Amino acid sequence: MIYLDNGATTFPKPRCVTSAINKALAEFGANPGRGGHRLAIRASEEIYNCRQTVADYYNIEDTERVIFTNNCTTALNTVIKGILKPGDHAVISCLEHNAVVRPLEKLKEKEISYTKAEIFPGDDDRTLDSFRKSINNDTKLVICTHASNVFGFKMPIERITALCHQYEIPVCVDVAQTAGIFPLDLSKDKIDYVCAAGHKGLYGPMGTGFLIINTDNIPDSLIEGGTGTNSLMKQQPQLLPDKFESGTPNLPGIAGLRAGIEFVKRRGSKNILEHEMKLIRKLYRSLKQNKNVILYTDIPDKEHFAPVLSFNLKSCESEKVSAYLNKNFGIATRSGLHCCPLAHEFMNTSNIGTVRVVPSVFTTEAQINTLIYALLKFN
Ligand code: ALA
Repeated sequence: MIYLDNGATTFPKPRCVTSAINKALAEFGANPGRGGHRLAIRASEEIYNCRQTVADYYNIEDTERVIFTNNCTTALNTVIKGILKPGDHAVISCLEHNAVVRPLEKLKEKEISYTKAEIFPGDDDRTLDSFRKSINNDTKLVICTHASNVFGFKMPIERITALCHQYEIPVCVDVAQTAGIFPLDLSKDKIDYVCAAGHKGLYGPMGTGFLIINTDNIPDSLIEGGTGTNSLMKQQPQLLPDKFESGTPNLPGIAGLRAGIEFVKRRGSKNILEHEMKLIRKLYRSLKQNKNVILYTDIPDKEHFAPVLSFNLKSCESEKVSAYLNKNFGIATRSGLHCCPLAHEFMNTSNIGTVRVVPSVFTTEAQINTLIYALLKFN
């Protein structure tokens, strides 16, 4: 299999990740924070170590501000539903995933409204202006993806954050598609909430993600329950991270996530990005020569894009192209709408979707050549 669906989840995972998961289950698979025995203590240490690894990677001092979640969707829901109150308004970009749009649609029941800011790829000033115009007196949160999961457009989130902070509005950034390749320094870029998937560019397993709360504006919790601390208290503890982490945590997943982030640190985010960008640019250039291919963006560069490429073949639904690639060449891509109808609306591709290719650190030039050949042979 030539796996080019790394935008959905990275595969394969580094060996150190699978080993860390196995080791956690086999050697200290006890319930962290729920017992004073040796194994429970070792399990708690593992979770603490991963929290520390995430905090170091994002350069934040308070380790307890890293909240483990099941995925990026849970992190986004926590911020959106935990911050916005009846009468509030939010601003989002026109590229947001359903993980942002659906919670906001649900919140309409509570008289919470939102505005989509249009973006102007390659023209950050106009994009900024669009965000500025979408803000009103009731705006209490701005939510923006770091890069589109469908077309790769990278957003000027540092500038968007600075703009919103002028209006004292907190900013939540969805880094699902950029974690691991575009690290953020949260001591400098004061993004209030960072929502990440653990299983994409950080090479952890599915079922992992996290929220970083880089502000004193703490959301309400979505769930309440046992935390292993303050058990006499009937109310949910307000201490971080306990407030958001009720229930037994995903110890093997978190152990795998730590190994994934350590792997990324060893390889270097910059090197991984260079590698993936080189492959995606090669693909782009070749597809540009193929008269049967429709491309939607400029050639990706690391200033304005994440290494994500969407395309179509003329007069063919994207699903058929993915099915052809899978059946005849064992190439895995994702087609359709990528849980992101807004981005497809923006690019006028809602009717056919797109075929999406996302490389990983393990993707080779030979694999990209096979894809190029397969697309030439399509008829
Ligand atoms: N949101 C993920 C994707 O883009 C699953 O495929």
